[in-house]
Amino acid sequence: MVKLRRFILLISFIFLSLAIGTSVIAHQKDNNRNRTMTFATAKNHESNRSVLSLKITQNGASWTHGILDEEGNETMRFTGEGVDFSIGNYSKGNVKHWGMRIDIPGKMYLNNFWNGIVEIHQFQGSKENIQTIDFRDISQDDIELRQITGDENIMIELNIGDYLVYYPSEEIGEYPIYNANNGRGTVTVGGIFYFDELDIQSFNGTIDYVIVTPLVSQTGFVILLVGAGVWFLFLFFELGYLYRRRRMKTEWDRDQKRLNELMKVFVSFIDAKDTYTAGHSSRVAFYSMKLAEKMGLTTDECMEIYYDGILHDVGKIGISDEILRKPGVLSGKEYEIIKSHTTTGGRMLKSLSTIKTAKSAAMFHHEWYNGKGYPIGLAGDKIPLEARIICVADAFDAMSSARVYRPAMDIDYIKRELRDKSGIQFDPVIAGYMLELIEEDALKNPMDYELPAYPYMQ
Ligand SMILES: [Fe+2]
Repeated sequence: MVKLRRFILLISFIFLSLAIGTSVIAHQKDNNRNRTMTFATAKNHESNRSVLSLKITQNGASWTHGILDEEGNETMRFTGEGVDFSIGNYSKGNVKHWGMRIDIPGKMYLNNFWNGIVEIHQFQGSKENIQTIDFRDISQDDIELRQITGDENIMIELNIGDYLVYYPSEEIGEYPIYNANNGRGTVTVGGIFYFDELDIQSFNGTIDYVIVTPLVSQTGFVILLVGAGVWFLFLFFELGYLYRRRRMKTEWDRDQKRLNELMKVFVSFIDAKDTYTAGHSSRVAFYSMKLAEKMGLTTDECMEIYYDGILHDVGKIGISDEILRKPGVLSGKEYEIIKSHTTTGGRMLKSLSTIKTAKSAAMFHHEWYNGKGYPIGLAGDKIPLEARIICVADAFDAMSSARVYRPAMDIDYIKRELRDKSGIQFDPVIAGYMLELIEEDALKNPMDYELPAYPYMQ
């Protein structure tokens, strides 16, 4: 049971660690991922569930501008339009940073690009000229790119194939772009382009961005965190339980050891009375416990049977040494006194409430299965089970131990006796088990046996 609990604890710990570990790693990986989205995808974000949206609109501002030659005649005339690029964040996270590349779809002139700095890539044949311009702070003379000069306005020439890279400014709130749920889902940047004729929707390009997803907004992660919380609570109580259990076990061990030692002292009292049968009580206890195990009784019951065996002859303490140790044949009266060790034992053990069967074991272990035993002549199943077990164990020890006046019986004799007296003296089922134990050679070294201090808890 305890091993199972520990196993479950260990397995759940491993699984939870793996789950949290992989989730954290996956989360972190996803958290700072660089992503790229094309204008086409961003413009259709609703249909393909992309996280960013892009709207390109004319903001209504419009200029007509002519280029004058040195004599003041107009040589060129352009219409300038303010074009807005609005980026919306529809993800669950926030756009930590972004940058935008705008591919130029036709011939035009760039006059301004507000809110920050733009990097212009201008091609001349296969030659690429790159200049980063801050429109807030530049004069025509500083521009190295191809442009229309002779006008006070900046007019940088752009053709198909050229492109702009826009770097947003954190200072004026162009990033981060918080998600739409937080009410600040859109950032608008734009430029002033002069062109003859242009469909502004034909602007192409890409937006590079980094999404940061707040930890708590991922449902799975929240569930895992709650799971981890519950698990830690469980762990807390489980460790508390294991700690209390260990403390209990220590105390139990101590008490059990004390009881076992007291039992041994007690056994020495009983055995000292009857020197012919030294060690008898311990051996009977061992054989009885083996029988109980064989019969499939519980650990508790087996242990109790062991104590019953230890105590079964306790009544002999009350019998005088002259009678108990008399070498010759006993008189009828002396035999009656010997027989009284059963009832005396029963009386002595009456108040032993923690080993409940000890009293009946002492009282009835000389009853016979056929009802011809003593002290009262109980028969069959009327004899308490513990007494029937001890009856067989007691007889086995009597036969297998050497006495001063006779050697130990040989094993074939003992087996024959067990068989012959089945149903007469012995419960036939228990005698059968005893024969099996003999066959299995399971009754070796009974005196070496020490009752485990704590048989319930490993
Ligand atoms: Fe006895």
